[in-house]
Amino acid sequence: MIPKLKCLTLIIAIFAVLLSSTNLITTPKSPSLKQLLDFALLLPSSIISPIISYTISRHHHKKRPDTGKTTSICDDFKPQFPPVEPNTTSILCVDRNGCCNFTTVQAAVDAVPASSSSNTSTPPSQKRTIIWINSGLYYEKVMIPRTKPNITIQGQGYTTTAIAWNSTANSSGGTFYSGSVQVFSDNFIAKNISFMNVAPIPKPGDVGAQAVAMRISGDQAAFWGCGFFGAQDTLHDDKGRHYFKDCYIQGSIDFIFGNAKSVYENCQLISMANPVAAGSKFIDGSLTAHGRASKEDDTGFVFANCTIGGTGKVWLGRAWRPFSRVVFALTTMSDIIAPEGWNDFNDPTRDQTIFYGEYNCSGAGANMSMRAPYVQKLNDTEASNFLNMSFINGDQWLQPYNS
Ligand SMILES: *[C@@H]1O[C@H](CO)[C@@H](O)[C@H](O)[C@H]1NC(C)=O
Ligand SMILES: *[C@@H]1O[C@H](CO)[C@@H](O)[C@H](O)[C@H]1NC(C)=O
Ligand SMILES: *[C@@H]1O[C@H](CO)[C@@H](O)[C@H](O)[C@H]1NC(C)=O
Ligand SMILES: *[C@@H]1O[C@H](CO)[C@@H](O)[C@H](O)[C@H]1NC(C)=O
Ligand SMILES: *[C@@H]1O[C@H](CO)[C@@H](O)[C@H](O)[C@H]1NC(C)=O
Ligand SMILES: *[C@@H]1O[C@H](CO)[C@@H](O)[C@H](O)[C@H]1NC(C)=O
Ligand SMILES: *[C@@H]1O[C@H](CO)[C@@H](O)[C@H](O)[C@H]1NC(C)=O
Ligand SMILES: *[C@@H]1O[C@H](CO)[C@@H](O)[C@H](O)[C@H]1NC(C)=O
Ligand SMILES: *[C@@H]1O[C@H](CO)[C@@H](O)[C@H](O)[C@H]1NC(C)=O
Ligand SMILES: *[C@@H]1O[C@H](CO)[C@@H](O)[C@H](O)[C@H]1NC(C)=O
Ligand SMILES: *[C@@H]1O[C@H](CO)[C@@H](O)[C@H](O)[C@H]1NC(C)=O
Repeated sequence: MIPKLKCLTLIIAIFAVLLSSTNLITTPKSPSLKQLLDFALLLPSSIISPIISYTISRHHHKKRPDTGKTTSICDDFKPQFPPVEPNTTSILCVDRNGCCNFTTVQAAVDAVPASSSSNTSTPPSQKRTIIWINSGLYYEKVMIPRTKPNITIQGQGYTTTAIAWNSTANSSGGTFYSGSVQVFSDNFIAKNISFMNVAPIPKPGDVGAQAVAMRISGDQAAFWGCGFFGAQDTLHDDKGRHYFKDCYIQGSIDFIFGNAKSVYENCQLISMANPVAAGSKFIDGSLTAHGRASKEDDTGFVFANCTIGGTGKVWLGRAWRPFSRVVFALTTMSDIIAPEGWNDFNDPTRDQTIFYGEYNCSGAGANMSMRAPYVQKLNDTEASNFLNMSFINGDQWLQPYNS
């Protein structure tokens, strides 16, 4: 056996062992899904693929070592459905081992009745559909069309449940179509699940390697305890009003981008840009690239009480469009943030129109003494406009996590 092949076999064997339990995580000693996929992201997709197909195709029966009896793996399957009022809510269940309604998330989405898009005089469905997803890695590309509002995707924890795919800008006809999960409908909710794009991490100078994990293009969406894993362009926060709470968001370049109006609360933003030598002026990433194109656009990203960590030297944001608007408040920033903080996309005319504000942040990266001249240090009054859920009209639509 040539050494290279040996190594590959070993990796597959390790993955097979790791993934061969009903739930991905069985004991606290197992690596978390995050660790697993952090590792997976470093592998070429050609290596991930056989592992995934192994996991999906593995036989549906296991031998219990204690009794010697063969039992169905579904014996262990006890979905903890939330109690629902059937007049207003229906539940569809997804389990990759076939223990309930569907084995793929897309099949469940396909089963949700579409509201009539042609006849606008009929009111849209008042019903919410909860798609309950059992622990595991779902290797598929998922799309929720505009005609299916009011869908909730409920996972079992962002380190145990994930949807992953590997489209890139090149392979899907553009960055905007590369999302592993793409949501075009309104009133979408995701809870306790990760969205991942496991395409190869772009090397410096690569073109067309952008790979979105989640594209959210519907209005009034909420994400609770979710993970977003990718490198360049991880989270396409495209348009509409959105709320992200307790989320983990990983990427390298422009990894939260789009022209939505969003509040991110208590989130972790983790940069995986390449580390830069101490003292170097080189910047190799940006946390955000907000795309507000004119002063009429009522959009912007607000980060409140978040933490910023990881590797590289990155900007808090760069001005993808001239009226880009981003605020960081009450956020802890590690020293990966470049001293100037922000970038005008190398177009000084944008300095007059971008709105980049910081309020009461802490940590080595929050030192504002070297910030670019256009950066605003917000006072209490100015900051309060961004720290109020009325910024996204949350009072009109945002429901508590347990509702
Ligand atoms: C995605 O993974 C599949 C299976 O490994 C591979 O054939 C395909 O080339 C990958 N796509 C991209 C864009 O990397
Ligand atoms: C649910 O709908 C049925 C039929 O319309 C109705 O009889 C029933 O009272 C409703 N239940 C509740 C709790 O609203
Ligand atoms: C899903 O499965 C449950 C029982 O596990 C069943 O009551 C329900 O009718 C199924 N729904 C669909 C759409 O198949
Ligand atoms: C979603 O459901 C709510 C009630 O829960 C309803 O008021 C609203 O119209 C629905 N939205 C859509 C777009 O169907
Ligand atoms: C789901 O997310 C909520 C909100 O972030 C969090 O409080 C809860 O602990 C999470 N549950 C699981 C099982 O991860
Ligand atoms: C994307 O496509 C372009 C044009 O075909 C090519 O030059 C480039 O190398 C491709 N990028 C990647 C990451 O494969
Ligand atoms: C701020 O975030 C921390 C976790 O980083 C959390 O413990 C704390 O409750 C948050 N504060 C508020 C006001 O939400
Ligand atoms: C801002 O930070 C200061 C010190 O770090 C703290 O005393 C003050 O309460 C903070 N303001 C708010 C609104 O959190
Ligand atoms: C902020 O940075 C300046 C310039 O590098 C430095 O003189 C100052 O001590 C720093 N302030 C803090 C609080 O670290
Ligand atoms: C905050 O800044 C605004 C200008 O943007 C100013 O009008 C206001 O007086 C300031 N408020 C405080 C409390 O300093
Ligand atoms: C939030 O905004 C609303 C509407 O502008 C206002 O009534 C409310 O007092 C604000 N809340 C806080 C805490 O500033």
